Amino acid sequence: MPAPGAPLTVVVGITGGIAAYKAVGVARGFVSAGHDVHVVATEGALRFVGRPTLEAISRNPVHTDLYEGVAEVRHVALGQRADLIVIAPATAHTIASLAAGLAGDLLGTTVLASEAPIVIAPAMHTEMWMNAATQANIATLRERGALIVGPASGRLTGDDSGPGRMAEPDEIVRSALDATRPRDLAGTRILISAGGTREPLDPVRYLGNRSSGRQGVALAEAARSRGATVTLVAAHLEVPAPAGVTVIEAGTAKRMLAVMRDQQPSADVIIMAAAVADFRPVAQSPVKIKKVEGAEPPTIALERTDDILSTLARGRTDGQCIVGFAAETVDDAAELVRVAAEKATRKGADLIVANRVGHDRGFGRATNEVMIVNPAGSVVAEAAGDKLSVAHRILDALG
Ligand code: CTP
Repeated sequence: MPAPGAPLTVVVGITGGIAAYKAVGVARGFVSAGHDVHVVATEGALRFVGRPTLEAISRNPVHTDLYEGVAEVRHVALGQRADLIVIAPATAHTIASLAAGLAGDLLGTTVLASEAPIVIAPAMHTEMWMNAATQANIATLRERGALIVGPASGRLTGDDSGPGRMAEPDEIVRSALDATRPRDLAGTRILISAGGTREPLDPVRYLGNRSSGRQGVALAEAARSRGATVTLVAAHLEVPAPAGVTVIEAGTAKRMLAVMRDQQPSADVIIMAAAVADFRPVAQSPVKIKKVEGAEPPTIALERTDDILSTLARGRTDGQCIVGFAAETVDDAAELVRVAAEKATRKGADLIVANRVGHDRGFGRATNEVMIVNPAGSVVAEAAGDKLSVAHRILDALG
C-alpha cells in the first residue's frame, strides 16, 4: 500500500445491472480524489453504460476481455497492481461468482490475483438480495475480509422498493478509501466540537458567526476512518455529520461548555474546532423585539461567555491531549505562529491549529491552509488542501 495520502491504483469493477450508470460517479469520485482508476467492466455492464463514457471519466482504457492483452498477462496484472478493488454495482451473479472463487472473466481473475482490500456494493431486487443463497455468499465474502457497502433501501428500477438499491457513489468512494487507511487510532476516544454557536437575542434572532463546521466534521470523519471512537459536539453545522460517530447537539456557548465538560472524562483527545461566541446578550427577550416608530434603536448589552478550551485544559485528565483552533485575520506567517503560540500558552492547549481567515478565505470553504503550533512556538506541521486531508494531517500531528 502506498504511503498515506499518496495516489492509489484503484480497480473499479462494474457488472451488469441498471445501477451501472451510477458507477460512472464512483469512478469519477476516485479520479477527483487523485487516484489512478482502471475500470474492469463485464459485457453486461457495457449494455448499461458506454465504454467511451467510462474511458473519459477514468482517463484509462476500459478492460473487459480475458483474451485481450494476453502478452502482458493482464488477467492477473491488474489485480496484482491494484491497491484497492471496488465492485459497484455487484449483481447477485457476480457476488455468487466471487464467493465461489470463479475465474471465468477478467473481473474474477483480477479479484483472485489480488491482495488488495475488496469493496463490494451490491445492487439487485429485494427478493434476490434477501435470498438465502445471496445472503450466504455475502457472509462468505465478509468472512474473507471484503467490505460490503449497502445496499440502501429505496425505490428500485420498477415500481417496487426495498433493500437492493446500490449505495450512493460518494458513500462507496468514502467507505472504500476508509478501508485502505491504517487503523492507527483504534482504541482512541476523540471528542470534537464543530460549527458556530448562536447566542439568542429573542425567539427569532441570534448573534452568530460564519463557521460552517466543515473542518470539525472532516476531523470527525478522518478520526473515525482511522478507527477512533468519535463524539462530535455539534453547534450549527452547514454540512451533515459523518456516519459512525456519536453526535450531541450544543447550539450555544453555555450548552457546549456543559456537554464538553460532561464528555471530557471519557476522551483521550479533545479538539475544539467550534467557533464559540466570546460574547452573548445579557438578556434574552422572551418576545420578538419590535421596532417602535420614533424611538432609538435598542442597545444590546453583551457579557463574556466562558472560555471552553481554557476550562477543559484546567480540568485536563492524565495524558489527555487538548487541541484548539485559532482563526486569525493576520497576513504574516511569523505573526500567525506568534499569535497561535501565545493562544496555546494562555489557554493551556497542547496544540493550536492556526489558519488565516478573511471574507474570502477560511470559513465555509472546502479547502483550508493551516499551521499546527505548540506553546513553545514551534510549527509541528503545516497542511493545505481539502478539509479532509487537512484533518488527517492534524490527526498525524497528535503524535
Ligand atoms: N474557544 C472556546 N470558548 C470560547 C471561545 C473560543 O473554547 N468562548 C476556543 C475555540 O473553539 C478555539 C479557540 O478557543 O479552539 C480559539 O478561539 P478564538 O476565538 O480564536 O480565541 P480567542 O482567545 O477568543 O481569540 P481572540 O483573542 O482573537 O479574541
